[in-house]
Amino acid sequence: MIVNSHFGNVKETYLFSEIAKRVSDFKAQNSGADVIRLGIGDATQPLPEVCIKAMHEAVEEMAYPETFRGYGPEQGYDFLRQAISEYDYKARGCDIEADEIFVSDGAKSDTANFTDLFGKGNIIGISNPVYPVYLDSNIMAGHSGAENQGSYENIVFLDCLPENGLKPAIPDKHLDIVYLCSPNNPTGVTLSHEDLKAWVDYALEHKTLILFDAAYEAFVTDPSIPRSIYEIPGAKKVAVEFRSFSKTAGFTGTRCGYTVVPKSLEIAVSNGNKPLHLHSMWLRRQTTKFNGVSYIVQKGAAAIYSEAGRHQIKKAIDIYLSNAKAIRKAFEEKGYQVWGGDNSPYIWLKVPEGKTSWEFFDYLLNTYHIVGTPGSGFGTRGEGFFRLTGFGSPQKTKEAVNRILKGLL
Ligand code: MLT
Repeated sequence: MIVNSHFGNVKETYLFSEIAKRVSDFKAQNSGADVIRLGIGDATQPLPEVCIKAMHEAVEEMAYPETFRGYGPEQGYDFLRQAISEYDYKARGCDIEADEIFVSDGAKSDTANFTDLFGKGNIIGISNPVYPVYLDSNIMAGHSGAENQGSYENIVFLDCLPENGLKPAIPDKHLDIVYLCSPNNPTGVTLSHEDLKAWVDYALEHKTLILFDAAYEAFVTDPSIPRSIYEIPGAKKVAVEFRSFSKTAGFTGTRCGYTVVPKSLEIAVSNGNKPLHLHSMWLRRQTTKFNGVSYIVQKGAAAIYSEAGRHQIKKAIDIYLSNAKAIRKAFEEKGYQVWGGDNSPYIWLKVPEGKTSWEFFDYLLNTYHIVGTPGSGFGTRGEGFFRLTGFGSPQKTKEAVNRILKGLL
């Protein structure tokens, strides 16, 4: 058998698997240690009551022949797609129809699977630092081209450094595809209306496809910050948007998210004899390779759009935001340069001079029993930085903050 040799070009382990391994080794050697995990952005608040109730009812429906459900529509049940269209888009002035929404098992899979739609030789813009899935999935698919000491033939890295406010700057060259994420994972920085407008204008001019990851939009409390790329005029012609119930409603383990692929996308391509459109290509891809999210889970997801549901998810998000704010404040008090933690669950900080990101990881874990994520795991420009999350429980976060305030470099 000939294997996909591009797998030889990705790092041996996925960032969060590597961290999980190091933490489990540490715990094996320090059995009494009370380790506080602020590394991976995993929900700790339970699912909202409305979801639990809706899911129980859906399980009950499965018990009787009259209400039992087998295969559902691959792109999601209409009740959920309609609710998303109405509450996440139309209520906010974005004209997104239910049949432009594809329900899935999460934004991680969708951002990675979307590479199935790319041909060879595209020039792809990727922020540095970045959520590792965008780069890794392109490397695995062979879209990155040849590697040379951390650079790739077809990847244009958009450096996000303190000098440019950690925001990806529009390059002076052509991109066929660009990934944007706001509120950003890992930096916690948000893109303003002007920032996004500049990207949409660039994309309209260059016929660039924007892949907009809005997995953390629910954490935006400042009304001037866009929560969807479709708030920007013209975006429906150039952008696909990924969203997730993982961070919005605690579905990290339950798995549900969705992707919006507008029918009006003008990034239409051709296979030489017939025009291809991303909306129909994604539909074709999903119907072939995916059998949809379970009815039970989709019922749970739809429940968050009820009045009680919206109230309950806000309560959990407020907890995470208040954790993030407390972590940010503690590091600021200690004299660290910090970003995010505001309209975002992530806090990004500069590690003390002379330490690498992984050395700071070891220092925090060994000295304070706190787990974070080394910035270098998100790309070369993340070296010298570190990420913490507000997703811990309030008690554990408070304890971590106390440890930070009492000690630390
Ligand atoms: C993170 O910590 O970056 C996220 O939890 C990863 C993810 O959503 O896949």
